[in-house]
Amino acid sequence: IFAAVEMAPRDPILGLNEAFNADTRSEKVNLGVGVYYDDNGKIPLLGAVRAAEKARLEAQPPRGYQPIEGPAAYNGAVQNLLFGKDSALIANAQVVTVEALGGTGALKVGADYLKRLLPGATVYISDPSWENHRALFESAGFPVDTYAYYDAATRGVNFTGMKTSLEAAPAGSIIVLHACCHNPTGADLSDAQWNEVVDACRARGLVPFLDMAYQGFADGIDADAVAVRAFSASGLQFFVSSSFSKSFSLYGERVGALTIVTAGKDESARVLSQVKRVIRTNYSNPPIHGGAVVAAVLNSAELRQEWETELAGMRDRIRAMRTGLVDQLKAAGATQDFSFVAKQRGMFSYTGLSAAQVERLRAEFGIYAVSTGRICLAALNSKNIGYVAQAIAAVTKG
Ligand code: LMR
Repeated sequence: IFAAVEMAPRDPILGLNEAFNADTRSEKVNLGVGVYYDDNGKIPLLGAVRAAEKARLEAQPPRGYQPIEGPAAYNGAVQNLLFGKDSALIANAQVVTVEALGGTGALKVGADYLKRLLPGATVYISDPSWENHRALFESAGFPVDTYAYYDAATRGVNFTGMKTSLEAAPAGSIIVLHACCHNPTGADLSDAQWNEVVDACRARGLVPFLDMAYQGFADGIDADAVAVRAFSASGLQFFVSSSFSKSFSLYGERVGALTIVTAGKDESARVLSQVKRVIRTNYSNPPIHGGAVVAAVLNSAELRQEWETELAGMRDRIRAMRTGLVDQLKAAGATQDFSFVAKQRGMFSYTGLSAAQVERLRAEFGIYAVSTGRICLAALNSKNIGYVAQAIAAVTKG
């Protein structure tokens, strides 16, 4: 039965890890996947996480099945983070949250549910977008199109183009929006532009699906929730996928959530019952550990404070790497102006490097980046930044 099976292409992001791990050069640097490393090149285990894990281990909790939607303590904590703890939506029971296997799992549960709800819809993703968005919504059975987003000339958002695209999308289309730290470009909308996107979604009857994988990596927990809060105030129904992979440095624990805002309590109960069917027929119920750790941190004033401080530390270090890279590129004699790197937000820089230049980085220097030219700034550190700057200057010269 497998004789005619073709080799599938390597994943454009996670596939880089495989190639990187197989590379024997000691100076190699992995700027591919979106993972935060500390200045020693290690994925940090946050102090707040360590404390919550220690308490869990000592309590020796039983390992029964979780509720299909995950525990209330976790889902409630997610809602507070997204909407603010005094949110009227939460008070009115208009918010349904289910724990999910990372942000990707949340997108997939949402996509599968949407396919049942709106089987004829088209999904629109930004041009460009995270590589997995298209693949994921296509695998859920949707046609996937794009809306204008990035302007390579200004290295910012082509907002006029974006609005024109949204205004042309058929009613009932699903619009996947990056709530903050746009992946891959690092170009975000302003607060005022978010309000215009809300208006466009309302006017066209579009279904917003906000993907929020980097809350806290641009300006802070509440500041980065501006898009979610703009939609919250709109009276619209919408979807949010969120993730603690980055913000809690819990990548492999697969901790995320799907949140759906409905018109009211009764609708919430019916929507939850349907989403539970999607989960039950997929992986039954979520694993315990990651969600329990996140809930313990977010529901303890002391640990939450510690986590926020650690998150700010990661945010600040990425910023320092941005300005550091700009300086080091100049020092390395780069002929291009890379000052835009310092203005982009989140973990990534959309460098403008061509696929051929990215390939030279890999072949000649052992530096791995996504072929679109996206690099992860959070993988830079005081030891490798000079080497990376010299390599980028070399492949972009002349
Ligand atoms: C990325 O974009 O590198 C991260 O979101 C990791 C992933 O799952 O692709």
